[in-house]
Amino acid sequence: MKVEVSLRRANRLINHGPVVLVTSKYKDKANIITLAWITPVSHNPPLVAICIHKGHFSHELIEKSKEFVINVPGEELLDKVQGCGIVSGMEVDKFKKFKLTAIKAKEVNSPLIAECFAHLECKLVKIYPGGDHSIFLGEIIYAQADEGIFTEVLDIEKVKTIHHLGANFYTKPERMIKI
Ligand SMILES: Cc1cc2nc3c(=O)[nH]c(=O)nc-3n(C[C@H](O)[C@H](O)[C@H](O)COP(=O)(O)O)c2cc1C
Repeated sequence: MKVEVSLRRANRLINHGPVVLVTSKYKDKANIITLAWITPVSHNPPLVAICIHKGHFSHELIEKSKEFVINVPGEELLDKVQGCGIVSGMEVDKFKKFKLTAIKAKEVNSPLIAECFAHLECKLVKIYPGGDHSIFLGEIIYAQADEGIFTEVLDIEKVKTIHHLGANFYTKPERMIKI
């Protein structure tokens, strides 16, 4: 037997890709936003899509700067990930508040977060309407990861990504399965 899941909650059945911290910068304002709604879109060119609510400060920064960085946090950053997903950069400097270190990116002006284990620098390709969110399609123009954690795939025995189930619930991968 199957039971109906409310449309409002249905996304939570497929919500738990890795949570990321997306950084953006416009003029002298840099910001961090926690995002669960992200997806790879294309191999060639390498495209990703991130969904951001129209009211968020990051929405404005990315729209204006036309770039962003996807930083991938490990489980040890869970409290900071949650924090960056609750307060707005309109009111606080999240780098200071959550003691995260901004370092220079290679190809874009938005900073990287040093404490994250991987970084995908993206140029905005297009913004699509998505209800109360916008879908920012970005092309990855440079990517890097901590040495030793990525060969063919991410070695999740070495780094544990954070996965958001919805509300205040998270999970993390336990082991790698190769078939
Ligand atoms: C685990 C988690 C995942 C989130 N995922 C998204 C998301 O995919 N899209 C979005 O617009 N907001 C998402 N949020 C909410 C924003 O991170 C949050 O509203 C943030 O404070 C907005 O920051 P800003 O106004 O500085 O841009 C998420 C929050 C948490 C805690």
